Amino acid sequence: MQTATPDLFFEEKFLTEPAPLSFWKSVSLYLSSLSSDSQVATIFPTSQQAVCHICSQIDFSKKISLIEYGPGVGVFSRFLLSRMRSDCTLILIERNRRLYNHLKQIRDPRLMVFHESAENVERVMKQAEVEEVDYVLSGIPFSRLKLKPKCKLLRSTRDILRPGGKLLVYQAFGHLTHFLDAYFEQVRVERKWRNLPPLWIAEATKGEIKDSTQALRLPQPPEHRLQVTVA
Ligand SMILES: C[S@@+](CC[C@H](N)C(=O)[O-])C[C@H]1O[C@@H](n2cnc3c(N)ncnc32)[C@H](O)[C@@H]1O
Repeated sequence: MQTATPDLFFEEKFLTEPAPLSFWKSVSLYLSSLSSDSQVATIFPTSQQAVCHICSQIDFSKKISLIEYGPGVGVFSRFLLSRMRSDCTLILIERNRRLYNHLKQIRDPRLMVFHESAENVERVMKQAEVEEVDYVLSGIPFSRLKLKPKCKLLRSTRDILRPGGKLLVYQAFGHLTHFLDAYFEQVRVERKWRNLPPLWIAEATKGEIKDSTQALRLPQPPEHRLQVTVA
């Protein structure tokens, strides 16, 4: 139950407009987006139960900045906006134009929506004039990224997180554990079966070290060790 600063939760002004799509309208939007873009990688929105579960790792009582990679129809985005304080910031990075156009309709002063690839997160941060974030939430299909862009994205994600910040990832496949272990000091993984498809969920925390190069357990570039791990 939410007890802290209750005046900031569920205020009418925080109920996002326009109203969220119904389940079947979401499926229809995913189907039409997927037909020309395989990176959309789903036809079903993540279930509300899984959304609540994954977002339970976020401390909504604080002023936080958050980036979401691959928000799709916005099931997480709307949930986050309904919980976040008025002084928080949410940046959405969606590479599919149709889904981006849908997300752009959400009117909320805390929200910035970018038609971009998550791989360009550092450029997005500059445009948004945000230096570091407390959380990155990601639903993009990491398994479809080649090794180099995958490593680059994890490194950039680590760099934009403040010390102690968290990357929360949900995926259909659990291949990412070794990669997260390489870039983050603390990694916790679980399976959530009550979702279509069942989800692999990870919480990766950046250590409280100011100099990110000191914290990494991988040499630069990281490819050689990861190639051995993944093979
Ligand atoms: C599996 S869907 C998840 C959608 C939504 N978050 C949900 O839970 O229903 C993946 C989403 O990530 C987007 N996406 C895929 N690769 C991306 C990338 N490199 N950068 C940003 N978005 C990406 C897709 O267009 C799609 O919206």
